[in-house]
Amino acid sequence: MRTSNAVPHLDARLAAAAAYVRPGSTVADIGCDHGKLSAWLAGSGRCPLVFACDLREGPLQKARETCAPWADRVVFRLGSGLKVLAPGEAQDIVIAGMGAETIMEILDAAPWVFDGRYNLILVPATKHSLLRRWLARRGFALQSETLCTAAGRWYAVMNARYTGICAEPTGLWCLSGKTEGQPGAGIYRAQQLGKLKKYRLGLAPGPEADGVDALIREMEEDKWP
Ligand SMILES: C[S@@+](CC[C@H](N)C(=O)[O-])C[C@H]1O[C@@H](n2cnc3c(N)ncnc32)[C@H](O)[C@@H]1O
Repeated sequence: MRTSNAVPHLDARLAAAAAYVRPGSTVADIGCDHGKLSAWLAGSGRCPLVFACDLREGPLQKARETCAPWADRVVFRLGSGLKVLAPGEAQDIVIAGMGAETIMEILDAAPWVFDGRYNLILVPATKHSLLRRWLARRGFALQSETLCTAAGRWYAVMNARYTGICAEPTGLWCLSGKTEGQPGAGIYRAQQLGKLKKYRLGLAPGPEADGVDALIREMEEDKWP
């Protein structure tokens, strides 16, 4: 159990995610695990109410311990993705530290989140380009992204909002999104392309492999800055 009321230190990735949470909003931290982000959002006073949510009881218990000093401002929910929330219960939604496919599945399973009033903060652990492509196709606009490193890895912290305008993004957009021009963008871009190629090697022949092939081809043909 925590004994100090000091808010936890956030690494660059979680600090960037916290910065996109609107002050005064009710926020849901989906996949809260250790609970550091939930605790920071409640303990710093940024959010009057935080839903700390996780699929598994073990992580949720960790979050309860981390958030203990601010227990009056944190509600814990056990379950998958956004199923633990009623529409409108939280306006800002953070989904951090999961693979892109899990993030897509979570959003797809909650049709109510396809609505411009929700402020989404997404931090994919893998396949950033596939998430950008999915977001564009499904009518979500990337408002902003923050490129950062944590524990030696590159992360793109994405701030997205539903607009209903579906688009077919270019390869370069999928690869870089709004990270273009930020410090380290060139290294990040090359690394993401390498990771996507590696992912492709593990795919069985089929529509997913064909789609990734097409995306990689486009990324390589696009004129990089
Ligand atoms: C790697 S941790 C990330 C923790 C924290 N969000 C971060 O970014 O540091 C991933 C957490 O997501 C949870 N998780 C995985 N799938 C989930 C789902 N469908 N719904 C809710 N939580 C999920 C796991 O149980 C785990 O606690």
